[in-house]
Amino acid sequence: MNAAHLPPGPSSPRAAQTLRWLADGPRYLRDCRARYGDVFTLDLLPYAVAGPGAGTRWTPWVFLANPEHIKQVFRADPATVLTGETNMFLRGVVGERSILVLDEPMHMAERRLLHPPLHGDRVAGYRDLIADVTRARIRHWPVGRPFAVWPHMRAITLEVIVRAIFGITEAAEVARWQNLLGRLLDGMTGARFLAVHGLHAMVTGGRAGDLGESAPARRLLRPVDDAIFTEIAARRSAPGGGGDILSALMREERTDQQLRDELITLLIAGHESTSTMLAWAFERLLRHPDQLARLRAQPDEDAAEAYADAVVKETLRLRPVLPIVLRKLAAPMTLGEHQLPAGAWLAPCAYLVQRDPAVHADPERFRPERFLGTAPKAHEWTPFGGGVRRCLGANFAQLEMRVVLRTVLDQVELRPAGPAAERTRRRFITYAPSRGGRVVLAGPR
Ligand code: HEM
Repeated sequence: MNAAHLPPGPSSPRAAQTLRWLADGPRYLRDCRARYGDVFTLDLLPYAVAGPGAGTRWTPWVFLANPEHIKQVFRADPATVLTGETNMFLRGVVGERSILVLDEPMHMAERRLLHPPLHGDRVAGYRDLIADVTRARIRHWPVGRPFAVWPHMRAITLEVIVRAIFGITEAAEVARWQNLLGRLLDGMTGARFLAVHGLHAMVTGGRAGDLGESAPARRLLRPVDDAIFTEIAARRSAPGGGGDILSALMREERTDQQLRDELITLLIAGHESTSTMLAWAFERLLRHPDQLARLRAQPDEDAAEAYADAVVKETLRLRPVLPIVLRKLAAPMTLGEHQLPAGAWLAPCAYLVQRDPAVHADPERFRPERFLGTAPKAHEWTPFGGGVRRCLGANFAQLEMRVVLRTVLDQVELRPAGPAAERTRRRFITYAPSRGGRVVLAGPR
C-alpha cells in the first residue's frame, strides 16, 4: 500500500501516534479533525494482525468524520468492506464462530440466527426483569458517602444479561456466573494482563493481536468455557423450551462450539458497553438539574419514556462508549475526493460526527430536548455503528438504559460527588468516565 494515496495525517513516528491514540484519544481525535479535516489518516501500530506471515502488518487507519462518507461505507457491499478481520483481536476469547469475527456470507447467516431473541416483543419482555434487578441492587448502595456508580451499573447489566440468557433466578447461580464473567473481563482488560499478554506473544511468536492466545488468557477463559459447556450439556440432556435466549438459540440446529461462541459474545457485548453508558448517563444528568427534574416530572408513562429515551440518545451522542467502528477495505474505494486503497482500515468516527457543530447544533451542550419528537438521522448518530453490522443489541441496550435510569431516579436521591464534569478515559477499547461516575446517595425519595 502506498502512503501517498492516503488522506493527510500527522507525520510523527508510528509509535508516537499510537501512544497518543491510546493515552489521549479524545483530544487527539479533535486535534486531527481541526488540523486535517473530516478525513484523516493515523499510522498506528497494528494490534490485530494474525500470526507470522499472515496478513498485512501495516494497517493505516483512515478516520471518517463526515456523515456522507460514513453513509457510503455503511451501505457498501459487505464483501468489499470487511469487519471480521478488524475484530480478530477478540477471536481467542469469543471464538471462530462468533458473529464479531465473521464476514459474509457466514456473518449474515449468524445474524439471522441471533436476531429474533433481541428484537420486538422479546426485548420489551425484559422490562420487568431489568426493573426488578435494579430495585434489588439499589438496596445495597452506600448512603451518604461518595461512590462510583459504574461497578454498580455493571453488576446490574451483568445480572440482567445472565438471567436473560440462561433464564436463571436463583441468587447463588446468578452470583456464580457474575463472578466467572467479572473475573474474565477484569482480568483481560487490566493493564497487567495486557502487558503480560503482549510479552508472551512476543516471546512465543504467537498471534500478538489475539487476546485469547496466551497462557494467562487461557487460564481466565477455561472456567467460563467449562461452565458454558456444562450448561449446554444439561440443556441437551433435558430440553426445556423455556423463554430465555439460550432456549431460543437451541431451537435451531447448532454445534456446542457454535453455541459457546454465541453465548460468550452475547454475555460480553451484552453488558459492558451498556454499563459504561449508564455511568455516563448519571454523570451527565445529575449535573443538569433542570433535565433531571424534567425527567421526574413527566405527566404520564408515555411522556416519561419519551424523555428518558431522549436522555439516553443524548448521552450516546455526547459520550459514545465506542468512539469508532472499524472496517477493512477489500477493494479500493472512492470517498469524496479521496481514493482509498485496498487494505486500508476505515474508522467511521461517532465521537467526531456527534460533536460536529455543522451536524448537531451547540454540540457540547447536554440537551436531551434535541431528540424529543425527532429521531436522530442514521448517519449523524452512530453510537451503535451501522449497515449490516449495526449493533444487534441496540434496542435491548436502550431499553435497559431507560429502565435503569428511571428506576434509580424514582427510588433514591442522587447527586454528583463533585461539581467538575468527569473526563473521558480509555478503558480497554471503550471511553469511560474517568472516575466511574462518582455520586452520593442522599437517601430514598
Ligand atoms: C449502550 C450499549 C451498547 C453499545 C454502545 C453498543 C455498540 C456496538 C457497536 C458500535 C457495535 C459495532 C457495530 C458496527 O461495527 O457497525 C456493536 C456490535 C454488536 N453488539 Fe452492541 N452495543 C451495546 C449493547 C449491546 C447489547 C446489550 C448486546 C446484546 C444483548 C449487543 C450485541 C452486539 C452484537 C451481537 C454485535 C455484532 C453485530 C454484527 O457484527 O453484526 N450490544 N455494538
